[in-house]
Amino acid sequence: MGETKILKLLILCIILLYSPIDLAKSCSEEPDGVCEGCTSENDICTMKILQETSRSVVLNNGEKMPAFGLGTYDIQNQEVITYSIVELGYRHIDTAQVYENEELVSKAIKEAIQAGISRDELFITTKLWNSGFENPVKALRESLGRLNLKYVDMYLIHWPIPEFEEDKKTFKKTPMHQVWQGMERCVELGIAKSIGVSNFNVQLLIDMLAYAKIPPTCNQVEVHPYYQQEGLLQFCQKYGIAVVAYAPLSSPARPDGGNGRNILKDPILQQIANSHDTTPAQIALAWNLQLGNVVISKTNNVTRAKENIEAVSVALSSKEMDLIRSLDANEKIYDTQEWECFGNIHAFK
Ligand SMILES: NC(=O)c1ccc[n+]([C@@H]2O[C@H](COP(=O)([O-])OP(=O)(O)OC[C@H]3O[C@@H](n4cnc5c(N)ncnc54)[C@H](OP(=O)(O)O)[C@@H]3O)[C@@H](O)[C@H]2O)c1
Repeated sequence: MGETKILKLLILCIILLYSPIDLAKSCSEEPDGVCEGCTSENDICTMKILQETSRSVVLNNGEKMPAFGLGTYDIQNQEVITYSIVELGYRHIDTAQVYENEELVSKAIKEAIQAGISRDELFITTKLWNSGFENPVKALRESLGRLNLKYVDMYLIHWPIPEFEEDKKTFKKTPMHQVWQGMERCVELGIAKSIGVSNFNVQLLIDMLAYAKIPPTCNQVEVHPYYQQEGLLQFCQKYGIAVVAYAPLSSPARPDGGNGRNILKDPILQQIANSHDTTPAQIALAWNLQLGNVVISKTNNVTRAKENIEAVSVALSSKEMDLIRSLDANEKIYDTQEWECFGNIHAFK
């Protein structure tokens, strides 16, 4: 990125910080759709990108969660995270104890802060693995130690499946209502600003809403054009639980799950992408965002990280949304049946 462009972005950031609504107007009011933020008619408007990347979803506890985030499962180095934060405007970073990369994420956060980003601007999620179900506070304190943070913005129960006893057959006696009490304690102690769940289905959510003192703020689940989970999404919307879509590109490198199909090669997504002069990945991400979901996508590549976050400025017509809706095939990538640690249970399909 050239010096002039960095300076321009910096000025835009400052203006944006103080008058986001005015900027929205000046951008759309310009003839030819070219405003101060656009370097040329063909360029993606930097002003619009900045405006959109700062877009957040307001959670049921009043906290704001940035609508587009960087997943870090299997991320190889912290440079891509640092670059994504500092240069591309990512503010939401998703990690988990079980990814064994909280230290790496911590290095990226440190570098971003050294580059002038404040901790308050960042939204950091980590997750409780089932080995920590008996004491979520202890597990979170350990995660915070690895992340070198005083608090996380979001703490999630990663999977609603308790560990096995040594016999590998009997579940440990840690019922979910007890685990949730531990999660609530994390909020009371100020070490998690918000708490939520992941991979919960409607039945588990109903149960949780019946016993929770603090209702879950979000449910992080697999959502992409081949696995749309419409019923679950409608339930979450009705009960004020934000949906965070993981594997939004259907995790194309994964060997397990699904039907071996790759949404990035889908002819309909390709056709829509051609008409927007974008990529199928950007169309899949834009569709998910337009449903109202928070979206977290992972890449080890800074060019693809830029491509992905630019999806925030793609607007799909209702006809295009309907076309993508027709691609639903109930093809789940992350299927616990593949995983011995969960006893190869074919859960939540
Ligand atoms: N709560 C849960 O149980 C759970 C489960 C799974 C995932 N997650 C979270 O969700 C995040 C995202 O899910 P995910 O990583 O499985 O899947 P994903 O974001 O759908 O796909 C990631 C894969 O797509 C490739 N990719 C990324 N951008 C691309 C682009 N523009 N064009 C072509 N290929 C592209 C990446 O390869 P390169 O790296 O080579 O670019 C990577 O192989 C995870 O990192 C994790 O933080 C949570």
